[in-house]
Amino acid sequence: MTERRPASTAAPGVATRIAAARVLDAVLHRHRSLRAELGPALSTLPDPRDRALAEAICLAVLRAPQRYAATLDAWMAKPLPQRDGLARALLIAGLAQLDPLGLPAHAAVAATVESMRAIGQAHRAGLTNALLRRAVREGVPAGDPRAHWPGWLRSHIEADWPIDADMIYAASAAPPPMWLRANRRRGTRDAYATRLTEAGVEFTLDDDLPDALRLAQAVPVATLPGFAEGDVSVQDASAQAVADVLMPRPRARVLDACAAPGGKTAHLLERDPTLSMTAIDVEPARLQQVDGTLQRLGLQARLVAGDAADIDTWWDGTPFDAVLLDAPCSATGIVRRQPDVVLHRRESDLAALLALQARLLDALWATLVPGGTFVYATCSILQDENARQVEAFLGRRPDARAEPLDARFGRESGVGRQVLPGERGRDGFFYARLRKAG
Ligand SMILES: C[S@@+](CC[C@H](N)C(=O)[O-])C[C@H]1O[C@@H](n2cnc3c(N)ncnc32)[C@H](O)[C@@H]1O
Repeated sequence: MTERRPASTAAPGVATRIAAARVLDAVLHRHRSLRAELGPALSTLPDPRDRALAEAICLAVLRAPQRYAATLDAWMAKPLPQRDGLARALLIAGLAQLDPLGLPAHAAVAATVESMRAIGQAHRAGLTNALLRRAVREGVPAGDPRAHWPGWLRSHIEADWPIDADMIYAASAAPPPMWLRANRRRGTRDAYATRLTEAGVEFTLDDDLPDALRLAQAVPVATLPGFAEGDVSVQDASAQAVADVLMPRPRARVLDACAAPGGKTAHLLERDPTLSMTAIDVEPARLQQVDGTLQRLGLQARLVAGDAADIDTWWDGTPFDAVLLDAPCSATGIVRRQPDVVLHRRESDLAALLALQARLLDALWATLVPGGTFVYATCSILQDENARQVEAFLGRRPDARAEPLDARFGRESGVGRQVLPGERGRDGFFYARLRKAG
């Protein structure tokens, strides 16, 4: 029997659950991207703790959507009709609050039932209560982390990394650690470590990454000492390693060809503000984020909105000493952070990305001074986008040769180095460093 209490979004946690369910409905049922949906949804929640919870719910679901769908299929006599995507998303969000998030069962069940009423689905309050109570009693059936990946992508991964494939799937389904980058302009990493300790935030240091601190538990950025003042940034360890691969000399002219949202541009400038930096991105809205990042950190670069490969439109002909191509890619190394990328990716997207990467490599090589350094990096784990892409480029360019990188940058992979997701707590990443004949 359905109850007749009035629905209220003011009840504890209801607005949070509905915000999360709206995002999940859009991503799971309407092929929208998490990145596009999450920001606007979170901005409706004034309390940072509610925002953190809504985000955690969305990520927990999207790391294993098949697991929750299979649970609903097994436990419901009749699936919810297509038009009831929001109600379905609420149920799935309820299951994820129990496992893996481990919220107190009473709070998770009560808030989800109340949310169902608040979206005008009071007739499903009893069903919601029964399904979630069953999950509390029996546990949510375990999922298979491989099920998250489309078959064509699994074929690539299992061909490229036959021994590591299961580790890749498992690591991609697990929440990543939060990594910080201390801003050298504002003091040493040790000085920032002391401030974290004083604030009661637990962390470890990584010997291979001079600016990095790895938090024991993720925290809202607003609670980090000096975040608003630019004393620290959030950036995965693998992304931080790029500055050590490029290593430009003081006052070098540096090009960051695919720069948004600006993490690596900012890191390079924090290391050495004498660099003359040009940062390009094809998406003007994302380039604005580079601007925001640099302003928060008090850094300067020349920003260009445009297609980096179309060099006649933005290059004045003065060569760069160092070029960073952090290329658009399948993002298969960061599925734990952006789990929706594999839900929506099609094989034809990969072909388009491979062509774009080759076009960017060929065009940007012309902007590098003889003797200069070119770094190609991706957050992909597919060898077609990484070692094989660079090897094909070297075959086209007799004036390019790959330089060895050491084990700080991962395992050897053809002409570069590869980190697989989760290794040493890092995102999956590939690096190759090329030198132009002088
Ligand atoms: C991997 S992300 C870069 C991340 C960035 N380097 C950072 O550390 O914050 C790739 C970027 O390439 C941009 N992009 C894609 N095609 C491009 C092109 N033809 N020219 C310039 N930028 C492009 C995308 O908009 C995206 O922001």
